[in-house]
Amino acid sequence: MASNDAQFRPGFWGWLNKRLPVESFIREQLLEYYAPKNFNVWYFFGSLALLALVLQLFTGIFLTMFYKVGDTTAFDSVEFIRREVSYGWLIQYLHSVGASAFFVVVYLHMYRALMYGSYKTPRELLWLFGMFIYLALMAEAFMGYVLPWGNMSYWAATVIINLFSTIPVIGPGLVEWIRGDYGVADATLNRFFSLHVVAIPLVLLLLVALHLVALRQVGSNNPDGIEIKDRRGSDGKPLDGIPFHPYYTVKDIVGVGVFLALFAIVVFFVPTFGGLFMEEANFEPANPLSTPEPIAPSWYFTPYYAILRAVPNQRLGALLLLLAVLAFFFLPWLDRSPVKSVRYRGWLFRLFLAEFTLSFLGLMYLGLKPPTGMYVVAARVFSIGYFAFFLLMPWYTRRDQVKPVPERVSFHA
Ligand code: HEM
Repeated sequence: MASNDAQFRPGFWGWLNKRLPVESFIREQLLEYYAPKNFNVWYFFGSLALLALVLQLFTGIFLTMFYKVGDTTAFDSVEFIRREVSYGWLIQYLHSVGASAFFVVVYLHMYRALMYGSYKTPRELLWLFGMFIYLALMAEAFMGYVLPWGNMSYWAATVIINLFSTIPVIGPGLVEWIRGDYGVADATLNRFFSLHVVAIPLVLLLLVALHLVALRQVGSNNPDGIEIKDRRGSDGKPLDGIPFHPYYTVKDIVGVGVFLALFAIVVFFVPTFGGLFMEEANFEPANPLSTPEPIAPSWYFTPYYAILRAVPNQRLGALLLLLAVLAFFFLPWLDRSPVKSVRYRGWLFRLFLAEFTLSFLGLMYLGLKPPTGMYVVAARVFSIGYFAFFLLMPWYTRRDQVKPVPERVSFHA
């Protein structure tokens, strides 16, 4: 049937399609969208990131109904939600555990791109939109963390906002402007609430939409890093592609099931996750006179935090932190390899990917520890490992002995 024939159907479906291209959208985006047939479990995390986003928006709306912004009301209102509001404890745990789950999913989603070279041509823009999502997500999580006005909320906000004071000339003024006061205070909490609940979610939704449009334009990469659009059958369809629906909608449901099961175990049995998802200090109200020991941000920020503290000079530390995040933006241009997937790369790339993985996880652990003794030495070693992955990439991706890439994707049912 031609793409707009649905509008001539009898009844409501015809009426609707004459006014809104529902059927042609479903057909073009799901039934006639051909995705590579060799997706593996690493391809679950895009749809799971979407699920995490929806979950955060949904639970966030209900939390906002009872949360009371203000330095004298915020902490008590969160306690009220946990103890008095019907199922408030569930909504609050879903939202705070959901934030950590979101980062687990997004980190695995990004790692997949590193393994299969999904940031390389023609997916540079898709990758850049992803990176802007990552930045927006970090801002969203940081501001959300301040809202319960616990003691770690207060001190994390103080430390992170103070980082801006290292910017020459405008730094100190900028810090005051961000806080809206001489210290982290009611004004800071109010603006963070507004940004967390309205502004950043809107930005996130827009970026995710752009991310998905860019994905549809170039098509998905796959574990072999082969462009399936290059080999088409006589019907014009990619030989190594299968319709997104029903094949991947069904497959994604399996991923959703496993994710929800694991998520439920954490929410119902270990919501604080040993202090990793919810820190002990945040069950006490904000207290400018009592600093938690050590001040540590949430686990998903600790790799960068460890880099910050690995150098004694705060200005240099802040600069390295910034560079550590920004480095990812340049991956499409740093990687000079003729192949995409790690499957066909040589030992040099594999070695650097392995040392980067180790450095990132090592820094994640060290960011939770006090910056003393051997912890600092280890953080310096891992920071060098972290930056070496990016800085040496143009060299090792050119030197690497790559393997011949097959014509067609490999798929073993
Ligand atoms: C709210 C967060 C995000 C959502 C909802 C999202 C959603 C998606 C979806 C649904 C896909 C297609 C399915 C898949 O390949 O898994 C995808 C692909 C992709 N995403 Fe994301 N994403 C998010 C964040 C990111 C971030 C932070 C990055 C990287 C910085 C990124 C980079 C990519 C890349 C490179 C692809 C193509 C992968 C390939 O085809 O191999 N995404 N994303």
